[in-house]
Amino acid sequence: MKINKDHISILRVIEGLHKKYEYAPLDEIGSRLPFPMKKTNFLISELNRMGYASYLTHKKSGTSAKVAETGFDALALWDFKQHSVITNIGSVVGTGKESVIISAETESGFAAVKMNRYNQKEFLKIKRSFSWIAVKKKIEELGIKEYEINVPRAKAQTEFRVLSDLKGVIPVPEPYGINRHAVCMQFIGKKSLPAKILAKVVLKDPADVFDVIIEDYEKAAEKWVHGDFSEFNIMVTDEGELYYIDWPQAVPSEYPNADRMKERDMDNIRTYFRKKYSL
Ligand SMILES: Nc1ncnc2c1ncn2[C@@H]1O[C@H](COP(=O)(O)OP(=O)(O)OP(=O)(O)O)[C@@H](O)[C@H]1O
Ligand SMILES: [Mg+2]
Repeated sequence: MKINKDHISILRVIEGLHKKYEYAPLDEIGSRLPFPMKKTNFLISELNRMGYASYLTHKKSGTSAKVAETGFDALALWDFKQHSVITNIGSVVGTGKESVIISAETESGFAAVKMNRYNQKEFLKIKRSFSWIAVKKKIEELGIKEYEINVPRAKAQTEFRVLSDLKGVIPVPEPYGINRHAVCMQFIGKKSLPAKILAKVVLKDPADVFDVIIEDYEKAAEKWVHGDFSEFNIMVTDEGELYYIDWPQAVPSEYPNADRMKERDMDNIRTYFRKKYSL
């Protein structure tokens, strides 16, 4: 079974109703769609089977549905395609505790789409970061509660902004687009095969690479302090080019905690080169 545009219409309606309900009642979903109720019910059961939506049945209020995490992925990918940010969806190239990264095709080559996930532990980290300030402002504007904020979307916004700001300053994946909790960016690697991360390569000239990393880090830190800088967030292409990835927790350099975060970032990378290459 494959998701089609009718499924997407339903997901959009449920998504819209999430402002009002955690689980949207089926009849209310149906009343906003041009399909007969029977078809709506059938399509929702398909969405449920594919894992894009989940059900809740309550004795009194009847059946209601909610968009699942992968349902939001489907919506974001659909919209990237609709807006010609990508032309085709590829396969998963990375899964972390905090995100899923897939490859995609564009008109001119390849892209990576990073879809953020909600992670409780990580939420506490976000609360100390720039995203949190931005999110807090938004909370005030909207007059909502803290638990109502959407962390994956806040992360996407920060990462997109950092990538846009650092483009041309240091090598980062070029940002192509943002949709909901997903960021589409330049694919680092050959075709749809991702480059290795620094932790997985053995450098021939570690001292030179170390100097380049420190220099790049300093350049970036005039604007943004990474906050999770390590051998796992630097990619190295076959040609030996470095790319700095994974910026959703970055903070602006003038942010109160920035200096401490910068020290910790530097320590991480120094320790890595000392242990692996005895530098
Ligand atoms: N632009 C990109 N091009 C190609 N591959 C990428 C790109 N961005 C990320 N990846 C791949 O996905 C992996 C995870 O990406 P990233 O570090 O941004 O996410 P994360 O949520 O921190 O994941 P983790 O928890 O594993 O660190 C990377 O190690 C890399 O292999
Ligand atoms: Mg990472």
